[in-house]
Amino acid sequence: MLKHNFDGIDRYLTTMKQYWHYNAFILHDYPSFSDNRELINFLHGIDDTKLMSYQQNPTLLYPLLKQFIPDLLNVNDVLFDIKYDQLSSHTEIPFWLKKGIKGRKWVQIDQFSHYIGESLPVLEWCAGKGHLGRLIHYKTKNQISAVEWNAELCNQGLALAEQQSILQPFFVANVLLGEGNQLLNKEQHVVALHACGDLHVHLINGVKKALTEKVTISPCCYHLTEHDNYQAVSSYALQQSQLLSSITLSKQDLKLAVVQQSTSGERQTQLNDQEVWWRLSFDCLQKALLKTEDYLTVPSFPKTLLSNNFRGFVEWVKAYKQLNIELPGDLSVYLDQGRERFNRLRRCELVSQFFRDPLELWLVYDRALSLQEVGYQVKISRFCDVKITPRNLLIQASR
Ligand SMILES: C[S@@+](CC[C@H](N)C(=O)[O-])C[C@H]1O[C@@H](n2cnc3c(N)ncnc32)[C@H](O)[C@@H]1O
Repeated sequence: MLKHNFDGIDRYLTTMKQYWHYNAFILHDYPSFSDNRELINFLHGIDDTKLMSYQQNPTLLYPLLKQFIPDLLNVNDVLFDIKYDQLSSHTEIPFWLKKGIKGRKWVQIDQFSHYIGESLPVLEWCAGKGHLGRLIHYKTKNQISAVEWNAELCNQGLALAEQQSILQPFFVANVLLGEGNQLLNKEQHVVALHACGDLHVHLINGVKKALTEKVTISPCCYHLTEHDNYQAVSSYALQQSQLLSSITLSKQDLKLAVVQQSTSGERQTQLNDQEVWWRLSFDCLQKALLKTEDYLTVPSFPKTLLSNNFRGFVEWVKAYKQLNIELPGDLSVYLDQGRERFNRLRRCELVSQFFRDPLELWLVYDRALSLQEVGYQVKISRFCDVKITPRNLLIQASR
């Protein structure tokens, strides 16, 4: 079943790649689907109010886009349909256990904990302060321990465990260096809530060697990896994926799987938009002043710069990158050019957003298949509502 589903999504992403596999950020025109003139004209005609409503509700846009892309599948197509089975428990949770855990995080932890049964000792991977482990212990009485590289978080977790009279050893270890592997063993349930990119891939490779009985992972941030291009986790994807044999997936491509506007507040969305607009405007400026066609990457920068003006931002990049350029008195022409590119980018994203869930699922199937290959029974589900976190996919594997 896993292979069958993976194959379906793999074929779909491959045949539709011109609609999502491009870096709109560096393009000055519409991407590789530009021979679809009717689609471009349609996207071009979308005003800002409609843009926002289509971003928030892609199903409104679907019938319109389908006229121009007949093979486009809706976001809720059966191929991507992974159910969220709302589980609930009757255990009353005392207030002190929730101490220091914010609303949505608490719901994530609570929902995740429903998937952990009694008996096996639980190791929490990349545990932060180990909130999930303590809740699991409260519900199941299982032994718990935690691995985390940030010593300060470990100390805070230990202090909370002591206050609550819970035995919860913390191991300070960098799992990317294999330092967590010695903690993995057979009779164990390892849990990882939102372990980013390579952090959960190291766990998968580790449990496969240790033959750990159960592992439950909610993966996230697939682009946070040491590799420039995507490395298949399963042998099946490596050997059978049409997608991987036809394109190289860069980190930028992998980001598509996790971009999500809907859970950011209005202020955060405004700031994100401003940042993208200014970055594109800066790109127009540097290309004009340095007389180049090459894109110049700008690293992440202090967000306080966004409350200043565009010139301040440009001065910061200029100093950071040690650019030898004389800024003109009026930068508005670049802001206008950047705005044009920004508007185009957001309209292209109206199309690529339809491929976000398929791409994330493809990545999750790859992980699930790699566990199945060594004898695990694997189930993929959603552990909480998408409004709580869009990263709600769950891999449950048991031997
Ligand atoms: C997204 S947070 C998730 C934390 C926790 N599981 C939760 O859901 O609240 C990722 C955690 O991984 C830890 N981490 C990052 N790199 C690590 C590494 N190389 N080794 C071990 N832990 C790491 C971070 O300090 C952070 O606590």
